[in-house]
Amino acid sequence: MVLTAEEFSLFRHLIYHEAGIYFKESRKDFLENRVFRRIGATGLRSPYQYYRFITNGGRAELMNLLDILTVNETSFFRNRPQLELFRTIILNSIIRKRNEDGQKKIRIWSAGCSTGEEPYTISIILQEGISDAANWDIRIHASDLSLSALHTANRAEYDAAKVLTTVDDSYIARYFVRVPAISAGSPEAATPSGGRGKKELYRFKVKDAVKKQVVFDFHNLKNASGYVNLDVIFCRNVMIYFDEEEQKKLIYKFYEGLNPGGYLLLGHSESLQGWKTRFEFVYSNKGTAYRKPEEEEG
Ligand SMILES: C[S@@+](CC[C@H](N)C(=O)[O-])C[C@H]1O[C@@H](n2cnc3c(N)ncnc32)[C@H](O)[C@@H]1O
Repeated sequence: MVLTAEEFSLFRHLIYHEAGIYFKESRKDFLENRVFRRIGATGLRSPYQYYRFITNGGRAELMNLLDILTVNETSFFRNRPQLELFRTIILNSIIRKRNEDGQKKIRIWSAGCSTGEEPYTISIILQEGISDAANWDIRIHASDLSLSALHTANRAEYDAAKVLTTVDDSYIARYFVRVPAISAGSPEAATPSGGRGKKELYRFKVKDAVKKQVVFDFHNLKNASGYVNLDVIFCRNVMIYFDEEEQKKLIYKFYEGLNPGGYLLLGHSESLQGWKTRFEFVYSNKGTAYRKPEEEEG
């Protein structure tokens, strides 16, 4: 089953308009496969009929389509050099500043958080890096467009193999608990994993001390978020799916949402190089970030 050139163009435009995600010609097969999957699930007969259905008020179905079009690949402690920069330079500067002004408060946004590994990693780093973390008002807003990814994030249970290969043993001991693999509400629990063809007997659940700092929310990055006065924004491996126009709009929104001196962290293949922005580039030991200046230009 194939989409005609006109049908591809209709869906491509719709998805770009709704979510900022731009489908290049080279990803037509992927889009086609997902559209036909949803046509089958809804019982509709043709791509055009399906298109008419979602554009005539079928918002819930549009969300289903967007959900299966997103790429949710992620992992705990992804891009370690950048996280090291966050743990040292960025976190220390926030702690210093807040100790000076007496407001022990940190606000971070993980934009495009997928299944939760990124915000939970941030939460662990904060627990480790702030000696009196219990006395601080810490919130990590974590948002995504994919409802199924957010559902997994909220459940906070992960395949043992995924955790064991990405998280240090000492952190696993401190911040995770083992739970039986086959538990209510974990549909993927009994699937083989780790490439060893064995069914896992247990999974790892993120402990409450880590989870309680994270607030998950549905948010489409095409829209205004309402998040302001942020110290750090992580938006990693999300902008790559947008075209340049949408990327620039997003960067502007991030700039507005940050406190003076706040930081923006992008994915390792994403950069602001060659763009006119006020962000200052920060580099340390292969880790990169962008800093909003303390003083606005007059
Ligand atoms: C590849 S994952 C990156 C996850 C994590 N930030 C990381 O680097 O490991 C990209 C995420 O961006 C989300 N996304 C894509 N377009 C979005 C949009 N318009 N609004 C919000 N989230 C979006 C996807 O649903 C997906 O979960």
